[in-house]
Amino acid sequence: MDALEAIRSRRNVRHFADRPVSAADLDTILDAAWRTPSSRNEQRWDFVVCTERTQLQNLALVWSGARHVATSAATVALVAPDTDDTDLMGSIEYDLGQATMSIMIAAAALGVGSAHAAVRDQEHAREVLGFPEDRRCAWLVALGYPADRPLEPIRRPNRRPFDDVVHRGRW
Ligand SMILES: Cc1cc2nc3c(=O)[nH]c(=O)nc-3n(C[C@H](O)[C@H](O)[C@H](O)COP(=O)(O)O)c2cc1C
Repeated sequence: MDALEAIRSRRNVRHFADRPVSAADLDTILDAAWRTPSSRNEQRWDFVVCTERTQLQNLALVWSGARHVATSAATVALVAPDTDDTDLMGSIEYDLGQATMSIMIAAAALGVGSAHAAVRDQEHAREVLGFPEDRRCAWLVALGYPADRPLEPIRRPNRRPFDDVVHRGRW
């Protein structure tokens, strides 16, 4: 699948088939994350990839909106420096958003579904993933083959109308 097709096919997949993602495909997805651009190329992130079922089930307990992590074939935890500085946090979050999309587009190109999850319980995430005290687990990206239907370009995405969103030249 080419890049445009992958962008058009990606959707949040929260029900995964009981089928592993190969180690080679996971590495391709992680390579895409690793190549992500970041502010001043600071790369304020680490990626912890989990594939073991018991660990995934435990990781899914970080908040109710992360339940799909339990049944994913793999989940990538995006770990970043912790800070109270809101400007710095905004910059880190922008970079993490880009890394998230790199992961999701690469996954879609391989036919692998993905879904975000926020992380509420940092102490539980730290216990499961073992990251240092000066970091937080910012996001989880669950991965796996869709249980319902394969990824294919979405003809009518549930988005605000294109012409309301796109302003040409001036608002
Ligand atoms: C910043 C962000 C946080 C999100 N957090 C969660 C989450 O915690 N749990 C969840 O199930 N989905 C989460 N989502 C997925 C969104 O609900 C989803 O992307 C949105 O409804 C659009 O649907 P689509 O991804 O299928 O196009 C999150 C998405 C983003 C961009």
